[in-house]
Amino acid sequence: MIEIINETMFHLYNEKISYVMTVLPNQQLGHVYFGPSLGKIEAFDQTYLDQKMNKSAGTVKFFEENNSFTLADRYQELPTYGTSDFREGALTIFEEETPLYTDFQFNHFRTYWGKERDICKPASFAATHESQSIEFELIDTERELRIELTYTIFQHLGTIARKQKVSNMGSEARRIERFMSGVLELKNRDFDWLHLSGAWLKERHIKTTPITQGTMRVGSLKGASGHQHNPFVALKEKNTTNDQGFVYGANLIYSGNFLAQVEMDEWNNLRLMLGIHPEHFSWKLEPGASFETPECIFTFSDLGMNGLSQESARFVEKHIIPPYWQEAKRPIVFNNWEATYFDFDEEKLLALAKESRSLGMECFVLDDGWFGKRNNDRSSLGDWVADPDKFPNGISHFAQKIHSLDLKLGVWFEPEMVSPDSMLYQEHPEWVVKHPYDRVSIGRGQYVLDFANPAVVEAIFQAMEKVIIETKLDYIKWDMNRNITEAYSAYLAENGIAQTEFYHRYMLGVYDLYQKILSAFPTILIEGCAGGGGRYDLGILFYSPQIWPSDDSDAVERLTIQTGTLLGYPMSSFSNHVSASPNHQVGRMTSLMFRQHTAMFGPLGYELDLFSLSRQEKQQIKEHIAFYKQHRRLLTFGTFYQLETSGKQNEVAWAVYDSNQEEALIGVYRVLATANPASEDFLQIPFLDADRVYQVNETPVSGRILKNFGLRKPYQFNAVNHETAQIKGDFQSFVYHIQIAENKE
Ligand code: DGJ
Repeated sequence: MIEIINETMFHLYNEKISYVMTVLPNQQLGHVYFGPSLGKIEAFDQTYLDQKMNKSAGTVKFFEENNSFTLADRYQELPTYGTSDFREGALTIFEEETPLYTDFQFNHFRTYWGKERDICKPASFAATHESQSIEFELIDTERELRIELTYTIFQHLGTIARKQKVSNMGSEARRIERFMSGVLELKNRDFDWLHLSGAWLKERHIKTTPITQGTMRVGSLKGASGHQHNPFVALKEKNTTNDQGFVYGANLIYSGNFLAQVEMDEWNNLRLMLGIHPEHFSWKLEPGASFETPECIFTFSDLGMNGLSQESARFVEKHIIPPYWQEAKRPIVFNNWEATYFDFDEEKLLALAKESRSLGMECFVLDDGWFGKRNNDRSSLGDWVADPDKFPNGISHFAQKIHSLDLKLGVWFEPEMVSPDSMLYQEHPEWVVKHPYDRVSIGRGQYVLDFANPAVVEAIFQAMEKVIIETKLDYIKWDMNRNITEAYSAYLAENGIAQTEFYHRYMLGVYDLYQKILSAFPTILIEGCAGGGGRYDLGILFYSPQIWPSDDSDAVERLTIQTGTLLGYPMSSFSNHVSASPNHQVGRMTSLMFRQHTAMFGPLGYELDLFSLSRQEKQQIKEHIAFYKQHRRLLTFGTFYQLETSGKQNEVAWAVYDSNQEEALIGVYRVLATANPASEDFLQIPFLDADRVYQVNETPVSGRILKNFGLRKPYQFNAVNHETAQIKGDFQSFVYHIQIAENKE
């Protein structure tokens, strides 16, 4: 997978992609190519490729020694601002107030197979035969700095992971002001800048903008990756469709403040960079110390948006998600939040649990309000002890009852928060993120705990550990409902650490708590959540195989949220709950069938008052759950495919299929009824095998017919008169089950 040509050109490749780097005339590391696989590179090809990098300039130390060599238009792996390149750089370092104009020269490389998983810090991992890495040592002798820059290529995947570390080899302290995790330089092929942006209740909507000269950026300064923007971004050729066109995806394995940007220069060259947001960030590098950035990944596909989505999903499922959960069955959850909010006691919960079990659910998740004296969102965060009024027999008694119903038990925590009205705050007011001046903002009636302080992390771990042991807990819902303001840590101040290190140290504290819990309880399933989808990122997925994607559980809204999310994240990471109608967030009324059809792509759950359902609705739920269980593997780990619909915004069609193309499920959703639609409409199913015969909901049809002519859309969508109309109106859905019938020969 890694080819070394003349010790100066480095080619990472597999059957899908090639990533080529070279040593530039000034000895820095240059970027040559990232795109479709080039196969093995011949020696004459190296000469040709090197010309592109201006190797003919000979060896030069700095650009001014040779008029024909400048870094201004050179594709680089680690560009820094300040010499002949005037674009934003990836690394900025100061010695006191003096900027260091670095010159990192290629010194040495080594390659190795496999990539170990280190539970202390989120990063990709792979078994020995699944990946190969190349680590470069780059040295700036004059400024006594060393960089280790490592690239990994994975078997059968269009993804390159990049990690990097800078070390201070001098005798004076240095200050890193910016260190972007990933840089990708390429020609603009009429790309659009794609990002997943939105807000609370409407996370990860796909936004695309044409790239013009200048810089476009998204990011977060909220102490979390955030609802507004996501670290997953992409460059896509303008005419890219669902299954054709060049697309480059990028993502950061990180959950805190981030910046993702693309800069286009005067020659149509693009510089895509991702990393920790440099605003309000700097890091002191003592002599002998190192700093490692979060890892970054770049993905390429020439198979359009579905190609990108499938590559991203496979990579995350194999190389990010905790190994224990990679193939494991995800339980069908009943969550009591939208069923009861804070108004419950043990008796009510047990009744709901029994009912959920009788409908076929498998895990009861006890949401917010079980601890302290929390009857609303103004108190008790941090006091992780069950409320005796709600649980007169204690939490372990409740847990036993749940387990005796043959249900797994999940419990909600918001580990990073504390209410002013709590015992924890009374005991430790200094554990709160708060500037020494009086003003401190409150969000949702709560403060953020100082997770940069290891004592805080340890105390919260101990409180959670007690509950986990007492309840023999199977599942944690880890919430985080406010962002960080007035960022300041008393602990850092006491220890002489700059406050500009706070945000990153806070994230390291969060990862440390994940690490502590999972080291002690390796099989517990942690569902990530942050006021819905405020922290949907690869850092969280490294610990939590699934995430509650949005506080908006409305099925129509979820069509958009899921479509966006699946561009960068696997279906198995997207928790779906069927909730009440009218929906609690938007007041929309939809049928139970529509809600179930939407929620079935990914791990399934229910979150509504089961006692307000009719007998018929309960029957419908039972049947749906039985259907889901039958197809759970496919609906969790199958290959997701977004189908092209003629209804554009108003119609969505999702498909999921198995690796042998033998079985597929297709969900077709029409949001609003349209007047006088065409009497017939078809959906082409490109991923089926043309040479096989399938059963479509029991009717035999050839693969080539389904691929080319298409699948006849449910006729209630197209009924033109009341003779043919079966169902009309808004929010219609239909599910097809397609299964191999026989081999043609
Ligand atoms: C926000 C979460 O996203 C909801 O699902 C619920 O757990 C509430 N917090 C509880 O406060």
